[in-house]
Amino acid sequence: MPNDCAQPLARSPRTTGFTPVFDWMQVKRHRQDPFRQYLSYPSLQPITADIEMPSPESTLLQSWHHNAKPWIEAIRTGTIESRLKVTDQAILLAILGRQPERVLDLGCGEGWLLRALAERAIEAVGVDGDATLVEAARAAGSSRVHLASYDELVEAKVDIGSDYDLICANFALLHQDIIPLLAAMNALLAPGGALVIQTLHPWTAAAGDYQDGWREETFAGFKGQWQSMPWYFRTLSSWLNALDMAGFRLAALQEPQHPQSPVPQSLLLVAERWDVSGIEQPQARRGAQ
Ligand SMILES: C[S@@+](CC[C@H](N)C(=O)[O-])C[C@H]1O[C@@H](n2cnc3c(N)ncnc32)[C@H](O)[C@@H]1O
Repeated sequence: MPNDCAQPLARSPRTTGFTPVFDWMQVKRHRQDPFRQYLSYPSLQPITADIEMPSPESTLLQSWHHNAKPWIEAIRTGTIESRLKVTDQAILLAILGRQPERVLDLGCGEGWLLRALAERAIEAVGVDGDATLVEAARAAGSSRVHLASYDELVEAKVDIGSDYDLICANFALLHQDIIPLLAAMNALLAPGGALVIQTLHPWTAAAGDYQDGWREETFAGFKGQWQSMPWYFRTLSSWLNALDMAGFRLAALQEPQHPQSPVPQSLLLVAERWDVSGIEQPQARRGAQ
């Protein structure tokens, strides 16, 4: 996740400094999509034994358990220049532009956005899968912050409320199978509700490899002890397809940029439920909800 975490401001793809994913991730991908693996890695032999290894998803959330404290420090000391100069304001304005009364911040982290919304008299509820981050958000003044993993939200194991005017996810959708989570969020929106996602800009983050797949964030530009995190890169069409499959239609797309940077700092997607648009959702997609 080079732009949001490891760099002051996103530069050109050549300088974003990706490191290759671990071998075990290649093995995982092979098991999920053997045909593609043969194309990309012709020397990798088919896996026949059923090897038990942690999924990138579980490693991803586990990395937040490890990185929670340095992350809180990084956010609260303004270490990430692109956030200070561009992306914090971008998502805040996108949310305020919808004039919501109740907002759910999905993957809220230490809660900066909850506090920014509360200061503007918006009822803000947070949810995150890391206990340290949830506790930090509560301690900083946000009383309604739930502890739940995305898997638990998909399975509706934790009640995080419903009838939200808006659900936002700021650099918080880092895993591969986002469609079930987005569909679960769709069900929590009030009529007329919207989903606002800010994420890495696919063009900026691609670093010359523009195809969906797991990558690795090493947090190399950060002070302190960080654990590498797998994250899932997705192309623009992959994002739009995921929204579509989860019952959303794109209402707006922004590419927040800083005048001194030649590349966008993020991709910002605003989506509405199909039923809001007055257009009936195609039959084939209804199963995703
Ligand atoms: C890059 S941080 C962003 C936090 C916050 N949205 C912000 O803007 O600072 C990603 C957040 O997603 C959360 N997260 C990642 N995977 C998760 C999962 N599977 N379940 C719940 N939370 C998850 C992490 O705990 C972390 O707080």
